[in-house]
Amino acid sequence: MRKKMVAGNWKMNLLWDEAKSLVQSLEENKEQMPQSVSVLIAPPAIYLSGMENMTSSQIALSGQNCSDHQSGAFTGEVSAEMLKSLNIEFCIVGHSERRSLFGESDELVADKTKACLDAGVKPIVCFGEQLEDRKAGNHFSVVKSQVSAAIEQLSDEQMKQVVLAYEPVWAIGTGETATEEQAQEIHAAVRELVAGKFDQSIADSTIILYGGSVKPANAKSLFSCNDVDGGLIGGASLKADDFLAIIKAAE
Ligand code: PGA
Repeated sequence: MRKKMVAGNWKMNLLWDEAKSLVQSLEENKEQMPQSVSVLIAPPAIYLSGMENMTSSQIALSGQNCSDHQSGAFTGEVSAEMLKSLNIEFCIVGHSERRSLFGESDELVADKTKACLDAGVKPIVCFGEQLEDRKAGNHFSVVKSQVSAAIEQLSDEQMKQVVLAYEPVWAIGTGETATEEQAQEIHAAVRELVAGKFDQSIADSTIILYGGSVKPANAKSLFSCNDVDGGLIGGASLKADDFLAIIKAAE
């Protein structure tokens, strides 16, 4: 029903030569990637055009962020249309680092989601609670309000293009991972929310990734949860062996 997906978020890491060798290693080992898993990488924007020629159809490319505007006087920004013009299929929006370090609001994330869809780029919309939210027992309400804000203006056809990614902030880059139960209950609640706003068949076909300290050792158990459709991988996507092991764990 839903294909598994493993996405590598490189963040602001790797110089060009290192980035090229990582892509080359992934390409050299692409026969190890199960056909049942969609694989994509999100390198820094400056590398995307160079990588477009280096990646086969088995490895899709994604932006890490884009502007909510189409074009114009927005120095330093990259638009979703620019990504599309390079045949970039996906773009991450609303990553917790964008929300917390760059002050992105739910409203801005919704506008970026819309900008991607208008340009024909599939948004990977991230959401997740802070540690304080979880400690206070507010994780479901925080997550639901973030997801609602991002998707409520979308049409059914637009929602079908959206990938969601649950990334509890306390698990990102910390080595602490959500348990399978914690991931599954949030993913199930978000799927139910999508069903309520759209319909069950759209909810059933929406890919919901888990992200936050996914490693080769914990990937299989997380990905085996009913509503976890793969992962958004930060640190472990910077090492070809680890990323390949995680991709295989999604089979
Ligand atoms: P991490 O990052 O795997 O290094 O925890 C995940 C992410 O931020 O997408």
